[in-house]
Amino acid sequence: MASRAPLLIAGSANPGLAEGVAQELGVPLASVTVQRFPDREVHVELSNSPRGQEVFLLQPTSPPPDEHLFELLALADASRRGGAERITAVIPYFGYARQDRRARGLEAVAARLVADLMVASGIQRVVTLDLHTDAIEGFFTVPVERLSAVSLLAEAIQGIRPDNAVVVSPDLGAAKLAERYAELLGLPVAIVHKTRTGPEAVTASRVTGDVRGRTPIIIDDMISTGGTIEAAIWAVAGAGAEREGVIVAATHGLFVGPCVNRLRGLEIKRLLVTDSVPLGALPGLPIEAVSVAGIVAAEIRRLTVG
Ligand code: R5P
Repeated sequence: MASRAPLLIAGSANPGLAEGVAQELGVPLASVTVQRFPDREVHVELSNSPRGQEVFLLQPTSPPPDEHLFELLALADASRRGGAERITAVIPYFGYARQDRRARGLEAVAARLVADLMVASGIQRVVTLDLHTDAIEGFFTVPVERLSAVSLLAEAIQGIRPDNAVVVSPDLGAAKLAERYAELLGLPVAIVHKTRTGPEAVTASRVTGDVRGRTPIIIDDMISTGGTIEAAIWAVAGAGAEREGVIVAATHGLFVGPCVNRLRGLEIKRLLVTDSVPLGALPGLPIEAVSVAGIVAAEIRRLTVG
């Protein structure tokens, strides 16, 4: 049983969210040094002993995923060696989650490898937010607590959506997610049938569901290069949806590669994401960020012993 207050340790991936969580909890972030050597090796050092404490490591494994992942592993190792009572990794965005199976054959199941590395580093419990796929939970031999930003995002959408809207899943994989949004918003659902043709390229073949004359609310768990959102917008437009007033919402906004330019050309009216990943400069995009600091803090409070 932990003997002192929980220790919040933030990696370098999302200092803004870490500060927000600390403020919500009314506890300071622990002092830690995270340095990169000239060869890019990372060196982490805790300033104070975590002995006997319940440690929460806050770190999304967002781009660059390998650096942020290894930093998290090193922080867990330092905490374990320092005598932490229990180590929980709070990973608002879980990198490598899309590599959850061997789609073509001779590939790595990187998401499983990541789970094994985390457990080997001393992580004893994981808190995640809108995991890309349910399979990830089963890759862990330690408890995984799953949070969701869907209610927060749906609440934000509810205040701005027109009456004639339709929730659009941009691919079959997000169909269940779209149904959750649709239920909260009291709207119908349509599904775009997408095929990925490359890391940055997708094509959308057809749309199931009635979008004619309706304003699309395109939802997804994440936006990476923006190809999925772009293909979905054109697919529903081709099926008769309104081109004006398009709303897009996703929990994780990575906005990598051609994403900003791509989305800027699409005349999206509102683009809602959370702060699971830090949002850099996104010129010309109608971004509205919804903070998940409150739900992360509430979960830490719930999980803290004593
Ligand atoms: C895929 O299954 C995910 O749910 C997202 O649709 C996808 O990762 C988004 O990637 P991009 O923005 O690069 O199309």
